[in-house]
Amino acid sequence: MKGIILAGGTGTRLFPITEGISKQLMPVYDKPMIYYPLATLMLAGIKDILVITTEEDQKGFQKLLKDGKDFGIHIFYTVQPSPDGLAQAFILGEKFIGDEPCAMVLGDNIFYGNGFNEVLENATINAKKGKATIFGNQVRDPERFGIMELDENNNVISVEEKPEHPKSNYAITGLYFYPKGVAEKAKKIKPSKRGELEITSLNDLYLQEKNLKAEILGEGFTWFDTGTFDSQLDAANMIRTIQNNKDKVICCPEQIAYYRGWISQEQLGERAKVLQKNSYGKYLQKLIQDTK
Ligand code: G1P
Repeated sequence: MKGIILAGGTGTRLFPITEGISKQLMPVYDKPMIYYPLATLMLAGIKDILVITTEEDQKGFQKLLKDGKDFGIHIFYTVQPSPDGLAQAFILGEKFIGDEPCAMVLGDNIFYGNGFNEVLENATINAKKGKATIFGNQVRDPERFGIMELDENNNVISVEEKPEHPKSNYAITGLYFYPKGVAEKAKKIKPSKRGELEITSLNDLYLQEKNLKAEILGEGFTWFDTGTFDSQLDAANMIRTIQNNKDKVICCPEQIAYYRGWISQEQLGERAKVLQKNSYGKYLQKLIQDTK
């Protein structure tokens, strides 16, 4: 199973903040935004990850994440020359994906909550069986998102991109699992009215073939698309509150790598040393103490 983090885009909705820096390199409380989607893919057991960025921002991501060794994974990079839609990621990543199933997470999406492991496992099993999975979360402002319409058994009836008159308030979150062959499928979609290869068009192809499943992120699950000033601050405050209450660091790639045995205690120790001046580094140190 391969994974893609799509961190392209010009971030115009966050100008002037993102005039000088990529949105996904900005902080959400104590870590760069991209750590959160990275942790999501790692939680799904994915160790080969392609980070797609704009050409001008690529260096920043390479400086931050390097080749992934700190997290016991392999990180590759490619450029999306112009923001031509989320589904284009699979065409850009065709060689990287090869003949495997592939997950994609948007670089500004934060997932945290009970039962997430199980949901990710279900999606992985679906992908290996030739089915795609999308993840639904109830929202207040459905016209801002891709929307899924569900029947009483949570089967998907329709998917629509930012509809004026939403058929439900289940947003399609920025996490998608696809079976092998997704690049071929992405090549079949036509650009939308706004000229983009929409992820929703790709999902619709799977739906028409009866190969689209939905997992619902239940109550108590936290999902943020950090694309606006308010959602970004809300996310940061939420992360801070959860972490302080639980006295832990959540969505922590180093911890996932350590617990899964992808990095050794020594490697985690080296990483803790780099971060030793703050609570993040102290947390990594504590993980080592707790497992000694
Ligand atoms: C994108 C997708 C949309 C999805 C959202 C989740 O929208 O097009 O279907 O619901 O991500 O974050 P964007 O945030 O790029 O406008």
